[in-house]
Amino acid sequence: MDTVPRYVAGMAAVRQDGSAGYKLASNESPYPLPDEMVAALVAQAQSANRYPPSGEVVVRRLAERHSVPEETVAASGGSLGLLRDLLTAYAGFASEVVFGWRSYEAYPILVRSLGARAVPVPLTNQRVDLDRMAAAVTADTRVVLLANPNNPTGTVVDDAELERFARGLPDGCVLTLDEAYCEYGEEGLGARGIALARSLPNVVVLRTFSKAYALAGMRIGWCVAHPEVVETLGRVGLPFTLTAMAQAAAMAALDHEELLFARVQQTIAERERVQVRLRETGFEVPTSRANFVWLPLGSRSEEFANACRAAGISVRCFSGEGVRVTIGAPVENDSFLTVATSYPAGAAS
Ligand SMILES: Cc1ncc(COP(=O)(O)O)c(C=O)c1O
Repeated sequence: MDTVPRYVAGMAAVRQDGSAGYKLASNESPYPLPDEMVAALVAQAQSANRYPPSGEVVVRRLAERHSVPEETVAASGGSLGLLRDLLTAYAGFASEVVFGWRSYEAYPILVRSLGARAVPVPLTNQRVDLDRMAAAVTADTRVVLLANPNNPTGTVVDDAELERFARGLPDGCVLTLDEAYCEYGEEGLGARGIALARSLPNVVVLRTFSKAYALAGMRIGWCVAHPEVVETLGRVGLPFTLTAMAQAAAMAALDHEELLFARVQQTIAERERVQVRLRETGFEVPTSRANFVWLPLGSRSEEFANACRAAGISVRCFSGEGVRVTIGAPVENDSFLTVATSYPAGAAS
């Protein structure tokens, strides 16, 4: 296990005077929970002496909301928890798991900690390259992981190419479509992912309440998959990882979806504003369909992240590759743009 990298969470932001700065490092919603959701959590807190219910009420609600049969839905403590269960069930020791790279940092950690072989496939023009991914699949590949939109680049794959790719996978190879950010993408992105999972038994769609539903701290993820996969997940999953508080939070979030989605629209508008301003300044910014932007700064990444840190803003730096910046509230984005637009020589060099 010594060779398994440790997951590094986004750093807190601290200003030079020690006060809290702006954390744009973890792709969280910048907006605190609406009072109605807080009230639901407070009410649930009184029952913390009891083990949580199995989650079937949340599953039923999600199934209704997304017009899919209940037996095709599973929920657990974070989509990362579900992904680990999925890998535990399908990607045994010495099997291969293929994923685009760079993508979500947790992928190689989970894969390697389970004893499977991680097969990272380089992106092309900041996008997951499905032809290269298909070429990397072998008889030992049990799972393909595809974040769509991709983290940290924010890019999406073409629908038709995705379907062709999924249909071309060999029997016994599960495609996991990680749609953690789909609510920030073009209209219908998430629904198309679910439709694919409904039409192909080897496709699993992972979704989360951590981003658009503003519940990163509560740990709720869910998936749509073939009923046999859902059944298997139910066997391998640790009992009680979906806490009663998390279930209450999920129900409250679904009750107040309109309000939460209005905030998603604000984030999308801010993302467009930030992207335009960065490009005007000379930064190369791939078009993002998520709640963050990616600056492929290469060898200047550390320097840029340090400039942000000096201004009390924490961003996510991948040394030698680029910097990912979460879209925050307007005042946070303004502050970030002040740093970015005064960065020496703009970006490009
Ligand atoms: C692509 C991707 N998948 C999954 C997750 C984790 O989601 P959850 O909080 O539901 O475990 C993240 C979090 O940043 C992510 O970027």
